[in-house]
Amino acid sequence: MITREAGELRLLGVLTLPGVERSVRYARLFLRDTLVPDHLAPGDELLDDMVLVVDEFACNGIRHTASGRGGKIHISLWSGPGVLRAEVSDDGADGARPALRDAPDDESGRGLHIVAALASRWGHRPDGTRTTVWADFRVHPRAHGARI
Ligand SMILES: Nc1ncnc2c1ncn2[C@@H]1O[C@H](COP(=O)(O)OP(=O)(O)OP(=O)(O)O)[C@@H](O)[C@H]1O
Ligand SMILES: [Mg+2]
Repeated sequence: MITREAGELRLLGVLTLPGVERSVRYARLFLRDTLVPDHLAPGDELLDDMVLVVDEFACNGIRHTASGRGGKIHISLWSGPGVLRAEVSDDGADGARPALRDAPDDESGRGLHIVAALASRWGHRPDGTRTTVWADFRVHPRAHGARI
């Protein structure tokens, strides 16, 4: 389900939610609760960026995968030297994976472009039929007063 990264990332918390739209609100609260104030100062813009990205990953999991048809999504937060990572795992989409759409329009295909603009880097990995989507955010300990 949740794949522990090799290396220096430390798991801060995991939340499992039903794959329904109202879960997104709880994902936001979970981020705030887990990251402030130990890792980000209240009002830090980085928190808004992370919330937007997790919102998008969660919405994609609910809309595009089996998570939205009676399944679940799992959100995990990680901390490492100079980095915070958010991961969202879903129940999979018959082998289809997240893909940046070439020609986003007003209706769709914009979410992952927003993710790419806000995160330092992002990606996804298969976990059997499931998919985990992740995004890293650079943190500046002194500027943010973070304790990593
Ligand atoms: N977790 C996922 N599993 C499988 N496919 C995904 C997943 N997330 C995204 N996709 C695929 O990647 C495409 C692009 O995602 P993106 O979030 O950019 O656009 P969207 O969700 O279609 O529209 P928008 O986010 O603008 O409402 C989706 O249309 C979908 O086909
Ligand atoms: Mg989307």
